Amino acid sequence: MGAQPTLAVVGATGSVGTVMRELLSSRRNVWGEIRLVASARSAGRRLPCRGEELTVRELTPDVFDGVDVAMFDVPEAVAAEWAPIAAARGATVVDNSAVFRLHGDVPLVIPEVNPGHLRYRPLGLTASPNGTVTAMVMALAPLHHEYGLRELVIASYQSVSGAGQAGVDALHDQITKVAGDRTLGSRPGNVRQAVGDDLGPFPAPLALNVIPWSGEPAPLGWSSDELKLRNEPRKILGLPDLKVSATCVRVPVVTGHSVAVHAVFGSEVDADESRAILRNAPGVILVDDPEAGEFPMPIDAVGTDPSWIGRIRRAMDDPRALDLFITGDNMRKGAALNSVQLAELIAAELAKR
Ligand SMILES: NC(=O)c1ccc[n+]([C@@H]2O[C@H](COP(=O)([O-])OP(=O)(O)OC[C@H]3O[C@@H](n4cnc5c(N)ncnc54)[C@H](OP(=O)(O)O)[C@@H]3O)[C@@H](O)[C@H]2O)c1
Repeated sequence: MGAQPTLAVVGATGSVGTVMRELLSSRRNVWGEIRLVASARSAGRRLPCRGEELTVRELTPDVFDGVDVAMFDVPEAVAAEWAPIAAARGATVVDNSAVFRLHGDVPLVIPEVNPGHLRYRPLGLTASPNGTVTAMVMALAPLHHEYGLRELVIASYQSVSGAGQAGVDALHDQITKVAGDRTLGSRPGNVRQAVGDDLGPFPAPLALNVIPWSGEPAPLGWSSDELKLRNEPRKILGLPDLKVSATCVRVPVVTGHSVAVHAVFGSEVDADESRAILRNAPGVILVDDPEAGEFPMPIDAVGTDPSWIGRIRRAMDDPRALDLFITGDNMRKGAALNSVQLAELIAAELAKR
């Protein structure tokens, strides 16, 4: 393939699509034409990308004619219907939704962790993992290679932008409503009363609160997000029997998903050695100096590319277990950046043909 490949960004007007356009504008340019695609509602809008104003096109089958790579950042039902159409038209699809992630013939890839999986994509589809999973697996993969991962006990601290712009708007509106009243949070019901009925996409107020729920109901009391934290690392790391118990919690943070992890390995671990391993690992940054007040935190990780890792301790009661805390920007590496990296790998592959 001689000319630079053509890229379609499907969902270019959305929250992830907006970060996608920013990344395409700042990274080394490997693309020829870039097509911005969204619903009929947005067709004709002009949006900035790579220093130009591009006109948004409606999602139709022929929008994929001549497209080499199509990145999808759209609701699940839209991805389920349209990603196979794009693939049938000859585009290699990188999808950010959960629809295809566990499909046996769709690779689920983090370029720094399992780039080899990208080669087997018989359906022309590749999936990008859940944002919390990506941040966590970036940290755990190098430790797994050293110690052999066996089990994970996890609590997530997920930001509101994971629930889209509606989540961000709901948090800001609620913070405005509770600001200044120092009695709130000291009596049952007074935060609910101050926030009122407009909860946005959440089942309870999030201002001055945390909500131990994220995702949709799944069997036996689990949530769909908790199952993602179990099933996606298993697939990415090639550990189908990895034991995982996760509790997902939504916290009043705008962007940056965090996770507290108790990881049990097959051999004894060492905290200093783990820090040394992570210092040299790709795509991660070690921030582990509690006495100096240095921890991985969303307010610092937001807008950055790596997974931030800290609070590394060997478990007091198990020499084979590590406890650690991880934070990553769910809109960048947790969504748009991972997809862009995958698209770039595919572009490099196409260039060799
Ligand atoms: N937010 C995160 O942290 C995150 C992380 C990882 C993965 N994801 C996944 O990424 C996807 C997008 O999330 P988001 O937060 O960016 O959502 P969003 O802000 O609601 O954006 C949705 C995008 O999809 C487009 N769209 C909706 N219905 C469509 C239709 N019928 N035909 C064509 N385009 C349509 C919208 O276009 P219009 O503007 O024209 O409506 C918009 O561009 C979801 O699958 C989500 O699960 C999100």
